[in-house]
Amino acid sequence: MFTIMPIYGTRPEAIKMAPIVKVLQDSPDFECVVTVTGQHREMLDQVNEIFDITPDHDLNIIQPRQTLNGVLTRTVEGLDKIFAETAPDAVVVQGDTTTSTAGAIAAFYRGIPVIHAEAGLRSFNLFSPFPEEANRKITSQITSLHLAPTTTSKGNLLREAIAEEDIVVTGNTVIDALLHTVEQQLPFTDPQLEEIASSGKRVLLVTTHRRENQGEAMRGVGRALARIADAEPELVIVLPVHRNPAVREAVLPAIEGKPNVVVTEPLAYGEFTRMLSVAHVVLTDSGGVQEEAPSLGKPVLVMRENTERPEAVTAGTVKLIGTDEERIVTEVDRLLNNDAAYHEMANAVNPYGDGKAAERSLAAIAQMFGVGQRIADFESQA
Ligand code: UD1
Ligand code: UDP
Repeated sequence: MFTIMPIYGTRPEAIKMAPIVKVLQDSPDFECVVTVTGQHREMLDQVNEIFDITPDHDLNIIQPRQTLNGVLTRTVEGLDKIFAETAPDAVVVQGDTTTSTAGAIAAFYRGIPVIHAEAGLRSFNLFSPFPEEANRKITSQITSLHLAPTTTSKGNLLREAIAEEDIVVTGNTVIDALLHTVEQQLPFTDPQLEEIASSGKRVLLVTTHRRENQGEAMRGVGRALARIADAEPELVIVLPVHRNPAVREAVLPAIEGKPNVVVTEPLAYGEFTRMLSVAHVVLTDSGGVQEEAPSLGKPVLVMRENTERPEAVTAGTVKLIGTDEERIVTEVDRLLNNDAAYHEMANAVNPYGDGKAAERSLAAIAQMFGVGQRIADFESQA
C-alpha cells in the first residue's frame, strides 16, 4: 500500500481535488491522507462538506488580507512538520494557487515525488494571471507526474522539454465534480434564489476575484453591473461575492440598492452549479467557471485580457472581453438583445473532460507506482 497525500487549500482546488480524493480512498493500492492548508476557510470547508471529505491534517493558515509570501511560508513550514513525522510516498497538488506551489516545493525539498493535477496550463504572460502563471511554471519544474487536462496543456509541457512519458492527459476533474453535482439539482438554502430559479426570468450570473482585477478594474465591473441592471429591469443579476474584503470593497458600492441585483455569500458548490444551469449568460474572471459553463451550454464573457484555457474560446462558447466598463456593458447587451449572437455562443461543448478524469488520474498514479499499465490519453470531442 502506498501513501498518497493530496494537498489543497482554496475553493477551486478543493472542488477539483475531491474526485481524486474519492478514487484514492476507494483504491486498494493506496492510502489517501488529505492535508488542507486552510488558505481559504469558509469557502474550503463548504466544499469538503458537500463532498463529505474530512481532512487528516489542517494547517489553518488563513489570515485576513493575507499576503502571498505569508501563505507560502506558513504552508511550507506547516507541511514540513507533517512530512517530518509521516512522509507520504507522493503528494498531489492541483492547479496554480500558492498552496499548490508551496506544497510542491515543500515535498520536493523533502525528496517526495510531486504529482501535479491540471498541469500545463499557460497564458504565456508571467504577470497575468498573477501570480498563477508563475506558480504553474514553478510547479511543472519539480513535478514527477503531470496530469494534463487537455492535449493543448500537454503540448505546452512538451514545449518546455518535460518528458512525454511523465505526462498523461486525463481531462479536468472539474467536469467530474460538475457532472456529479449538477445532476443532483440541489435546493437553494436562500428562498429568494429558489424563487429566481423558478421565475423564468433571465439570470446574469457574475463572479469576480482575480488579484490583477482588484482596485479600479473591479470598481469598473461594479459600475458596469449597475448600468446593466438599470437598462434591463427584467434581468436578474446574481453575484455570489468572494470572501476577499478587497473584492467586496471594489465591486459592491456601485450596485448597492439595485432591486434586480442579488448579492449573496459564496454559494455552496451544489447551489452554484444549479444557478449556473439556470443562468442565461455568465460574466466571470474565474478559471473554474470558464471550464464548467461551456459544459452546460452557457455563453461565458471572461473579464480578462488572456486565458490559459483557450479550448472553449476556440469552440466559441467563451469570449475574452477584458475589464473595460464600456465593453462589459456592450457585450452583455449584445448577448441579451441579439438572438443570433446568443445562439452562436450557447453550444454545449465539453473540451475539458468527460467525467472520467479522476479515474484516469488514478490509473496514471498506479502506473507511476508500478501497479498498473499506461492508459490512453483523454481526447476532447469538442
Ligand atoms: C486565491 C488564489 C487564486 C484562486 C482563488 C480562488 C493564490 C495566489 N490565489 O486567490 O488562484 O483563483 O484563491 O478563489 O493562491 N477569505 C476569507 N475566507 C475564505 C477565503 C478568503 O475570509 O474562505 C479572505 C481572507 O481575508 C483572505 C482573502 O480572502 O486573506 C484572500 O484570499 P486568498 O486565497 O489569498 O485570495 P487570492 O490570492 O486572491
Ligand atoms: N463556485 C462556488 N460557489 C460560488 C462561486 C463559485 O462553488 O459562489 C465554484 C465554481 O463552480 C468553480 C469554482 O468555485 O468550480 C471556481 O472558484 P474561483 O472562481 O474562486 O477560483 P478559480 O477557478 O478562478 O481559481
